[in-house]
Amino acid sequence: MIGFLKTAKRRLAALAQNVSVRFDAMRAFRYDKKQFMSNAGALHLDRKAAARAEIVMGYHVLEKGLTMPRRRLGFGKHAVIHLVNLINDFERRFGAGDAQVRHAVGVLRAYREIHRCLPCQMPRLDALLSAHPDIPAAFEPHVSRAAFFAAKDAPFPQFAASRHVCRHFAGPVPRKTIEAAVALALTSPSACNRQHARVHAVDDPVLRDRLFAMQGGTRGFGDTVDKVLVVTADLSAVRWAWERHDAYVNGGVFVMNLSYALHYFGIAHCILHWSVSPETDVKAHGFLGIPSNEAIVQLFACGMPPEEFDIAASPRLDLPDVLAWHGDGK
Ligand SMILES: Cc1cc2nc3c(=O)[nH]c(=O)nc-3n(C[C@H](O)[C@H](O)[C@H](O)COP(=O)(O)O)c2cc1C
Repeated sequence: MIGFLKTAKRRLAALAQNVSVRFDAMRAFRYDKKQFMSNAGALHLDRKAAARAEIVMGYHVLEKGLTMPRRRLGFGKHAVIHLVNLINDFERRFGAGDAQVRHAVGVLRAYREIHRCLPCQMPRLDALLSAHPDIPAAFEPHVSRAAFFAAKDAPFPQFAASRHVCRHFAGPVPRKTIEAAVALALTSPSACNRQHARVHAVDDPVLRDRLFAMQGGTRGFGDTVDKVLVVTADLSAVRWAWERHDAYVNGGVFVMNLSYALHYFGIAHCILHWSVSPETDVKAHGFLGIPSNEAIVQLFACGMPPEEFDIAASPRLDLPDVLAWHGDGK
């Protein structure tokens, strides 16, 4: 009888906890929805930060194009016009002088100089460049493999500054080296040491192509990628509703550590988003055999780099744009 009562009490407590987590989850997702609808840049393009992010995305497309392994002259004409319009609109509404917008003009000037020999008319681009005579062309860095990995054993500030994504791949990475990098990334911290992250390493080109066709961010280099690392986070480790973002937070911490680890082991890699529709996510789980309790967080395209290649400059925001102090300044 006592045993029966104890079991019933345990079951009731579990049921109460289950109901409470479901209730909290509904509240939390309602709050997330409101946050997203009220603030996501995609829905509020009139705001300055959103307009600037749009310009950064615009110049990033061109920077990527300028560094592509098989660059095609004349690429991205529509992207150029779109970026010119965004810059004109931004400066009209918010004024000139923003560092990221100035970089965008520099990238456009580099694009124009590379295309100087072509008989193409780009009057709107030329007008924008004439209006900013003080901004020089922002050419993308060209590096040797040795220089790219030279800071492997340097102090952390140099090592961190030397890490960049690379979209040039010239050969296979041994499985052992991937294993060493993933083992090093296990040093990542995680909430209560629950270690949510998992890695699915894909070295079948058919699966790679299927995945990249869904992902859409590897145009121009996807077919040269040797291995794809799919980083997931186990939702089983999430204990209550307020931790609803924990798979992505802990997965993101792991992703950054893995990026450093790959760089340390001399593996060229490009981090790839997994911003896909629910249907695509389900399909990818299916054909990769990833269980549904693992949320896909990010992909890595990996390979050995060639002797020399270009990397995108990708300049960062200024410190005051990022760091805000809250306090009395002691
Ligand atoms: C979350 C995330 C998603 C990304 N997705 C892609 C992608 O789909 N395709 C791509 O070529 N690069 C992608 N990148 C690479 C970024 O463009 C790159 O990290 C950024 O421009 C900064 O450059 P750096 O890493 O060389 O410093 C992604 C990076 C992150 C962190």
